[in-house]
Amino acid sequence: MGSFVNDVFLVKVDNERFVAKRYTNWVSLKWVTLSLYGIGSVRFSISGRRRMEAEYYFNDLLYRRGLAVPKILGADTRNRIVLFTHVLGDQLSSFLGSFAGFPQAGQRERDAAYNAGVLVAGAHEQDVALGDTKPENFIVDRRGNATLVDLEQGRFRGDVSWDAAEFLYYSGHYWLTYSRDLANFVDSFIKGYSEHGESRVLKSAASPKYIRVFSIWTPPLIINSIRKKLLSSTAS
Ligand SMILES: Nc1ncnc2c1ncn2[C@@H]1O[C@H](COP(=O)(O)OP(=O)(O)O)[C@@H](O)[C@H]1O
Ligand SMILES: [Mg+2]
Repeated sequence: MGSFVNDVFLVKVDNERFVAKRYTNWVSLKWVTLSLYGIGSVRFSISGRRRMEAEYYFNDLLYRRGLAVPKILGADTRNRIVLFTHVLGDQLSSFLGSFAGFPQAGQRERDAAYNAGVLVAGAHEQDVALGDTKPENFIVDRRGNATLVDLEQGRFRGDVSWDAAEFLYYSGHYWLTYSRDLANFVDSFIKGYSEHGESRVLKSAASPKYIRVFSIWTPPLIINSIRKKLLSSTAS
């Protein structure tokens, strides 16, 4: 299922669908991980066992608290495989930045960003930092509801501002230039997050230590505009 870090399989049994994820030990690291080592401010787990344990634990915890994450159906610790319910929808990244100029452009994007903000703040309320909130990890249905998969980098009392920073700066690179649609997308996430989250978390997502990570990826003008929104959102 489009993952090069773990082996993620779509499993069909009769007419039912499931997702099986096998946690391999990382040999080649995600670019983001490398950069994170560079800034040294966000800790990332490498071992397959550690990532499987975190995913199992935090997925189960957030599911029981009513947050939009898939349900865990079982785990095979010897082979390091976890089985999840299959979430219907598209990766949020797959429709960012497209259809610009069409009527209704960006409505699903905005709804998804708002719901992602609510979801991320909901995890933070439980003292859980998610660790990998890039738009690929949000599955969005037709009405714009967002479900978060990939909790293997979750941890208690982790870096919550990183979650907001990664979501927004990473999403930003899907637009070629700063546009009204991108501005609306960022506003929607901030609005959703602010309903349950703390504004100081958004404010520190503007910190230079995160900007440095994304500067190799997202154009500076886009990063700067997102940053300004994060800083001004805290004034109200
Ligand atoms: N339960 C699920 N339902 C639907 N799609 C999923 C589910 N779990 C994972 N996926 C899809 O597979 C991709 C890779 O899974 P993920 O858990 O993010 O693995 P990785 O840690 O390798 O990024 C996700 O981005 C998502 O598109
Ligand atoms: Mg992922």
